[in-house]
Amino acid sequence: MGTAEPPAPVPARQAELMHLLRQDCGACHGMTRQGGLGSPITAQALADRPEDSLVATILQGRPGTAMPPWQPFMTPAEARWLVWVLKNGKGLP
Ligand code: HEC
Repeated sequence: MGTAEPPAPVPARQAELMHLLRQDCGACHGMTRQGGLGSPITAQALADRPEDSLVATILQGRPGTAMPPWQPFMTPAEARWLVWVLKNGKGLP
C-alpha cells in the first residue's frame, strides 16, 4: 500500500495479465483471491509481505507446494507490476 506504481506494461499486455490473474491464479487462489487450494492473496493478506519475496514466489513458485513458477509466462517487471496490483487491489473485484 502507498507505494508508487512500478513501470506498467502496455494496456494490451495489462489486459492479458489481468485475465491470467482471474483465470489461472483464480483457479487456486479464488476468483476474489480469498484463497482456496492456494493461500489468500488479497491486499489485506499481502499487506505485510515484502514485495521482493512475492515477486520471487510468482516467478519461481514455491517448491514443495502447489504454487507453480510463472517465469515462462511473464517477465520480472510484469510480476512486479502484478504484485503492485494485488497489494493495491487495483482494478480487481
Ligand atoms: C495450482 C495452484 C496455484 C496456482 C495456479 C497459483 N498459485 Fe499462487 N500459491 C499456491 C499455493 C498452494 C500457495 C501457498 C504456498 C505455500 O504454502 O507457501 C501460493 C502462494 C502464492 C503467493 C504467496 C502468498 C504469501 O502469502 O506469501 C502469491 C503472491 C501467489 N501464490 C500468487 C499467485 C499468482 C499471481 C498466480 C497466477 C499467476 C498464482 N499464484 C497461481 C497455488 C497456486
